[in-house]
Amino acid sequence: MKILFLSSEIAPFAKTGGLADVSSSLPKALAEKGETVKAVMPLYSSIDRDKHKIEPFMESACVHMGNCEEWYSVHKTEADGVEFYFIEFSKYFNRPGIYHTPAGEYPDNAYRFAFFTRAALQLSRDLNFIPDIVHANDWQTALAPYYVRFDDAFSFDGAGSVLTIHNIGYQGKFGADVMEYAAIKPEHFYHEYFEDFGGLNFLKGGLASAGKITTVSPTYAREIQGPIGGSGLHLLLEYRRYDLHGILNGIDTDVWNPAKDTYIPKNYSAETIDDKIHSKRELQKRFHLEEKDNTALFGFVGRFAAQKGLDLLGGAIEDVLRDMEVQFVVVGSGDSEMERHFGSLSENHPWRAGSYIGYSEELAHLVEAGADFFVMPSHYEPCGLNQMYSLNYGTIPVVRNTGGLADTVVNYNETDGSGTGFKFNNIDTRALYDTIGWAVSTYYDRPDHIKKMQIAGMEQDFSWDRSAEEYLRLYRMLS
Ligand code: ADP
Ligand code: GLC
Repeated sequence: MKILFLSSEIAPFAKTGGLADVSSSLPKALAEKGETVKAVMPLYSSIDRDKHKIEPFMESACVHMGNCEEWYSVHKTEADGVEFYFIEFSKYFNRPGIYHTPAGEYPDNAYRFAFFTRAALQLSRDLNFIPDIVHANDWQTALAPYYVRFDDAFSFDGAGSVLTIHNIGYQGKFGADVMEYAAIKPEHFYHEYFEDFGGLNFLKGGLASAGKITTVSPTYAREIQGPIGGSGLHLLLEYRRYDLHGILNGIDTDVWNPAKDTYIPKNYSAETIDDKIHSKRELQKRFHLEEKDNTALFGFVGRFAAQKGLDLLGGAIEDVLRDMEVQFVVVGSGDSEMERHFGSLSENHPWRAGSYIGYSEELAHLVEAGADFFVMPSHYEPCGLNQMYSLNYGTIPVVRNTGGLADTVVNYNETDGSGTGFKFNNIDTRALYDTIGWAVSTYYDRPDHIKKMQIAGMEQDFSWDRSAEEYLRLYRMLS
């Protein structure tokens, strides 16, 4: 099968979150199954071309955007059986950020990603690559299914289209001024397609056009069909429910694997789990925490966005540090108020808590390996990768029971020590405090249960094999 895969971020080239991880590991898993995948993303100026051996491929290519022609170039690299193409267009992608700067979103994001999406489809034509499936991801490439369905230039002899929702909190809502440039026909500017309270909604039009819609966990697929989870799109999603599939993300077990991880001081597996302590000691050193093997250490890594429940964590952490014998490390960046709040953790709690405000792949790996517990108090979580990484590293997740967290973590059962993590339901500081307390008391009072949960987590299989098969099944239904 021939698959054209479009994404605004692909790891390791450029990443702001889990979308990049999935956009690298799903194509790779499909290629391993013998499918032909061409993945396309923008060539942001932050991408290290030498490091990733990204070479010039097509010096000048042209795509029609409304009444104008945009001329750009294409670059390419290959890895793990996948061809990765990069659209270079300095007007839009020669900037410090991917979507924004600290001052806010780029005001021309609608233009940038409409261009990227059309340029990616144009590339497929220029390569004479007639895909069976065009697979788009999130609002940035959500116009692809629309073009495949309604634009003769990009219908590829009736290719099927799939649109994956990684996060319905971001829909790409813009003014109608971009319509002409984005080649959205006036007859599709009404409520069944792009129109949304008088403006234009990229994701909405994409969802209305796509052959199949997927999202990244079965529970989230149900949640987005309700008024709370659907962020205004629940009626459309309910209407399309027979074409909406929740497929749990996998994880790249070459990259996130304690037995192979190159960022940690000593590799370990379920059989050698006692060696996990070396990562804990290193983590304590790096964050200037007291170096004690037997203190429960909690970690958080992630975007400082409202979705991630940092209001709950911020509200609970002071009480937790006051009342319990624990250590805390936080790695992340985003919302500036949260950056200030968590940035002062070590000042307020020397030797017991520390933070790194910024993006660090290395620290993310070290926290996954070195912490005893990983906290994810998300308000909503389409899938979440960190809890799966944690389970793989024998680090017990403490999560709110939502979306993919609900699907991947099995709650602890005190009577027999079964389960893989600690779960709570309410979006409430007290619920998080109590659940951390439950984890802490288990850590000190029932270490045999902790060990049992760690091993149970490590034995789970979150590799892409099964999920990639599910995507293939969908693709076959469309082609
Ligand atoms: P989301 O996509 O909503 O951000 P996921 O759990 O799916 O959430 O994926 C987050 C990914 O981004 C993980 O690989 C995580 O380690 C990484 N990540 C997020 N923030 C940081 C950071 N500050 N430093 C390093 N990695 C980070
Ligand atoms: C999103 C979601 C996250 C998911 C990721 C990859 O950004 O917030 O839950 O794991 O996409 O699908």
